Amino acid sequence: MAPEMLHPDSAPSQDAALLSVRNLTAGYGKREAISDVTLHVGRGEIVSLLGHNGAGKTTLLKSLFGLLKATSGEVEFDGRACAGRSHSQNVRAGMSFTPAEAAVFPDLSVTDNLDLGAFTITDSAVRKDRLDKVLATFPLLRERQQQLAGTLSGGEQRMLSIGIALMSGPRLMLLDEPSLGLTPALAQRVLERIRELALFDGVSVLVVEQSVRVALRVSDRAYFLRTGKIILEEPAEVALSRGHWWDLF
Ligand SMILES: Nc1ncnc2c1ncn2[C@@H]1O[C@H](COP(=O)(O)OP(=O)(O)OP(=O)(O)O)[C@@H](O)[C@H]1O
Ligand SMILES: [Mg+2]
Repeated sequence: MAPEMLHPDSAPSQDAALLSVRNLTAGYGKREAISDVTLHVGRGEIVSLLGHNGAGKTTLLKSLFGLLKATSGEVEFDGRACAGRSHSQNVRAGMSFTPAEAAVFPDLSVTDNLDLGAFTITDSAVRKDRLDKVLATFPLLRERQQQLAGTLSGGEQRMLSIGIALMSGPRLMLLDEPSLGLTPALAQRVLERIRELALFDGVSVLVVEQSVRVALRVSDRAYFLRTGKIILEEPAEVALSRGHWWDLF
């Protein structure tokens, strides 16, 4: 008999997942924007969250990061309940959130913005290593290190906001439309970098993208959200083989 049959309670739960969400419901005032959402993200796994405009994708990311209080449900990060944590507590625990709109400190230089992203890191060698990696991913930022972030172009601010997230060395990246405003070549580079982080550093990613095909190509698995509810979960390659997704939206 298998050992887990003898000791059912000691069998590892399927929550070897880094992020585990159960029956999460959240909204604005009396209006529910996500209902009963259950999902998980494994270690080193890239999961995309797909759905039409207003389906609740951003709401879900904000709720996971502690920017919006859930009405009910459970969220576990790395085996610990984290619903109700503030976003700075979540950053310290290893989460990052990059909103769809560029989130930078406009009156600070590019370097100072990146430095703020590493506010949880005390080891200066680690900060320098992270900075080198971010500047290697976005060489354009290297040329603009002293420029005020508010004077960067939209696409440059987008790169900076992703760079800020990378500086914290997250174990789970919540990315809301990371390729928004970027040229296709740069979007490709960002997604490749995300793939490398997952593959080589074991970073987990929950990513929202408008382009289903782009998202699925970089993901391991996908959830489809319709009017606040998860209607389908599939391996990315199965979803890709459909060729069209209009019936899911
Ligand atoms: N601050 C807010 N106050 C009230 N309602 C909101 C607020 N933010 C979002 N909503 C509503 O919640 C629902 C889900 O919005 P959400 O931004 O999560 O959608 P989304 O899937 O990210 O859409 P998009 O693809 O357009 O970014 C929508 O009906 C939206 O109008
Ligand atoms: Mg959104």
